[in-house]
Amino acid sequence: MKNWSTHKAIKNFVLHLHPLKIDARATAYNRTFGLGGIAALLTTILFVTGLLLKFEYIPSAGKAYDSILSLKNDIIFGSLLRNIHYWSAMLLVVVTFLHLIRVFYSQSIFYERRKNWLYGLLLMFLVVSSNFTGYLLPWDQLSFWAVTIMTNLLEYIPFIGETLAKLIRDGDSVGEPTLLRFYHFHTGLLPLLMVFAVTMHFWLVRKAGGIALPKIEKPKKVNTHPHLTYREAYIALIVIAVILLFSIFVDAPLLDKAKPTVSPNPSRAPWYFMGFQELLMHVHPVFGSFVIPVAVTAFFIAIPFIKYPELNTGVWFHSLKGKKITIWSALFSALFTFAFILSNDMIFKFGDRLASWPKIISTGCLPTLLYIIPVGAFLWYLKKKKTANRIELVITITTIILSAYITMMLTGIFLRGEGMQLIFLHA
Ligand code: HEM
Repeated sequence: MKNWSTHKAIKNFVLHLHPLKIDARATAYNRTFGLGGIAALLTTILFVTGLLLKFEYIPSAGKAYDSILSLKNDIIFGSLLRNIHYWSAMLLVVVTFLHLIRVFYSQSIFYERRKNWLYGLLLMFLVVSSNFTGYLLPWDQLSFWAVTIMTNLLEYIPFIGETLAKLIRDGDSVGEPTLLRFYHFHTGLLPLLMVFAVTMHFWLVRKAGGIALPKIEKPKKVNTHPHLTYREAYIALIVIAVILLFSIFVDAPLLDKAKPTVSPNPSRAPWYFMGFQELLMHVHPVFGSFVIPVAVTAFFIAIPFIKYPELNTGVWFHSLKGKKITIWSALFSALFTFAFILSNDMIFKFGDRLASWPKIISTGCLPTLLYIIPVGAFLWYLKKKKTANRIELVITITTIILSAYITMMLTGIFLRGEGMQLIFLHA
């Protein structure tokens, strides 16, 4: 064929994703940290390795665990294949979350990018749901009890909780039908939705004219190839090398085969849900599994649609003041949340002390107010004394939520032992 070469084919493909020329500032590593591209690469790796795993995996409670053992022991590179799939999936949760943080703090979610923020939130949901449904498939003690804990939590959602939990589990408890249902979600419906959402997401990035950058007069333009494409290729090669090396040396966890009558102590949710598990130890389940998650989700959806008197698209943290506020809010939230966890476990113990009160007040409204009032005072201080404007206050609230969740998650992962007691109190 005339003028045809692999190099040209790659160039053509890449230039369907990017325009021919881009703003030179968009090629700087610290503008995007390549996080969106890494998420796309990891998704591709997961699709390919997932398709290969399907040749060996058997989605039945009696055979699933043995099929994983056989993959590990009898199939050449079987263990490596599973490890690559597992570690890529875990990394994708982290990378997608970091990408969310990047687009938010670089003020890249307003005006023409609003819709993409919503597709992004959908993608975050799909990434976590894909991870969670895959978690059950090995059918070992870790996966069985993690999914049992999380689906039990759903039952606390008012009115629809029990029906929703039954629908997801396909029964009253986790069992054979749940495994089959999760398998179909994991290998059918969720990947399909991912392809749709990623396609829309990429298209909307192009439609918005590329990534958000601060406005300047006469920005310098460079050719996308090789300026951006080579950088993307370097990052992709580094990520592939790291995953490969890690997967050669570190095996994905696999405990004993699931025993539905013997729960491990402590029974833990998957690590990214440990923040919820921790939250539920301090507030009434209706608040922990419904009121607070719904309020936070509604806030995240609303962020780009709030009316702001001033916005600095593409400027990190909106302003220098916004940057300082972010650092202080993150510290305030981490310390205050940890102090709240300790005092709740050691001093307040609302459930025990106020045993005669309705639970929804003693363990629902009371601890929630105890948390919200100091946070409200902090926001008031920033507004009145530091003259923070609306977007700086939204940055503060978002930072407090993110930092609080990370603090609860780390506490759950590293500081809780047997019976979910804090390890240093137990010792
Ligand atoms: C599998 C998940 C995802 C993939 C593959 C993905 C991919 C990408 C890519 C390649 C870009 C171009 C710039 C960059 O690399 O940063 C981008 C931009 C963007 N993403 Fe994502 N993304 C994902 C998830 C998310 C999430 C969770 C959010 C936020 C909730 C989000 C919101 C955005 C926004 C608002 C932009 C435009 C940023 C700008 O204009 O600077 N994305 N995404």
